[in-house]
Amino acid sequence: MTTSHAVGLAALLTLTIAPVFAADLATTTFRDHVDSEGNISRPTDVRSNWVHLGSWVVDDAEAPGAGFHDVYTQPEAARAYRESGEFADGTVLVKEIRGIESGEKTTGPALWAGEPRVWFVMVRDGQGRFDGPHWGQGWGWALFTADEPEVNVSESFENTCMGCHTPAQQTDWVFVEGYPTLR
Ligand code: HEC
Repeated sequence: MTTSHAVGLAALLTLTIAPVFAADLATTTFRDHVDSEGNISRPTDVRSNWVHLGSWVVDDAEAPGAGFHDVYTQPEAARAYRESGEFADGTVLVKEIRGIESGEKTTGPALWAGEPRVWFVMVRDGQGRFDGPHWGQGWGWALFTADEPEVNVSESFENTCMGCHTPAQQTDWVFVEGYPTLR
């Protein structure tokens, strides 16, 4: 093979392979965040590499969801949603909850986020790959705590998550009104 042939072949391979890798959200998700038995693990690099969808603040220490909630997804998942209005296969949503700090700043009486406490994770399975307690309504559902961040401590989708997410059923079980990045 001459040099120019080799260069041509390399260019052709790059052109044909690169878009496949870039597009394959599901391959990455079901390799890195879900094992072959459907066990979900916590994505750990969301702050540096994913996009921030929006934040919620539940400023009542007695409330079930007290804290700062920041929600993240993969950049390509956000793009796909903006284009189609649907969550693509392999979309992962991570909600990180942190405690609330407060004090006077030069802006006024400020609230800001403290240390992470828990992470809620939803994984879009558009192909019905898995059943079992943590899979339902087209999503995998998991919960991780700062004490044991490797262990999914959710009992099941039905017992731990479903009741509270029913109000968002019409928007694919996601509270999309809180996520400006999806619009
Ligand atoms: C106490 C009610 C409650 C429970 C229990 C609950 N959720 Fe949620 N979840 C919400 C609400 C309400 C939001 C959006 C508003 C907020 O965070 O305050 C939300 C948001 C989320 C988000 C961000 C994306 C979205 O849907 O808007 C994820 C991910 C999530 N929940 C996963 C889970 C998983 C997984 C479980 C079960 C292990 C679970 N949730 C249990 C009420 C709940």
